[in-house]
Amino acid sequence: MQTYYEDDTVQLYLGDMREILPALAAQADLIVADPPYAETALAWDRWPDGWPTLAATAASSMWCFGSMRMFLDRAGEFDGWKLSQDVVWEKNNGSGFARDRFRRVHEHVTHWYRGDWTNIHHDTPRTTYTGPDKSARGRDSRTPHTGTVGAHTYVDDGTRLTRSVIQAAAVRYQRRHPTEKPIELLNPLIHYGCPENGLVLDPFAGSGSTLEAAQRAGRRAVGIEAREDYCEAAARRLAAIPLDLFTGGVA
Ligand SMILES: C[S@@+](CC[C@H](N)C(=O)[O-])C[C@H]1O[C@@H](n2cnc3c(N)ncnc32)[C@H](O)[C@@H]1O
Repeated sequence: MQTYYEDDTVQLYLGDMREILPALAAQADLIVADPPYAETALAWDRWPDGWPTLAATAASSMWCFGSMRMFLDRAGEFDGWKLSQDVVWEKNNGSGFARDRFRRVHEHVTHWYRGDWTNIHHDTPRTTYTGPDKSARGRDSRTPHTGTVGAHTYVDDGTRLTRSVIQAAAVRYQRRHPTEKPIELLNPLIHYGCPENGLVLDPFAGSGSTLEAAQRAGRRAVGIEAREDYCEAAARRLAAIPLDLFTGGVA
């Protein structure tokens, strides 16, 4: 099958994921899916029936973007997937304002897996903590009914688990795609679910944000996008990334 764009670490295919994915027969470490939510009048915003089941043939771990309404409406389509957690993307400004609702400035990203959790790569990124040092020596024992614990020492290394609410400005200035996702949002999701040099698959690649984020994080990536104009936008941005990033490891 012909790629629309290809370099050392990224491949992009133009076409319907329901046809391309089975033909690729790829096994990825992680899927990052930003599907059509089917909530707007945009021509491409149509839910491809059955795509989560198809995605399950290509990976056992998946981040999926969506609104609460989308996940509730399509819950049955995620049969066979188990939900591990949800992350909230807080934007600087929102979309779809209605005068009779709260001003909506967030979206959900849910993590799903199949099979045994211990076989799923999950490595929570840590962020720098600037508060007071919490280093402490543990107690030797507790009250009898809670059992006895050994002495321990906690050394505060100045980092904390990344929080489940991630603030990132929506990407508007480039006008590559109406629902383009920011790299700084995708970066911790990819670090969490895909090992270094592992393979990330994005079946709804749009302007190629996931592909760029994966490449910058030192992961390989395969994308599928149904529209040629978005493939072109993705190819342009990927071709503009400096070559020294292709060897990976840059967060
Ligand atoms: C929500 S957008 C993805 C935006 C992308 N994450 C970005 O940052 O640019 C969903 C994309 O899926 C594409 N799409 C819709 N149906 C598809 C299908 N059956 N196969 C492949 N792509 C499809 C749309 O053209 C659209 O670009």
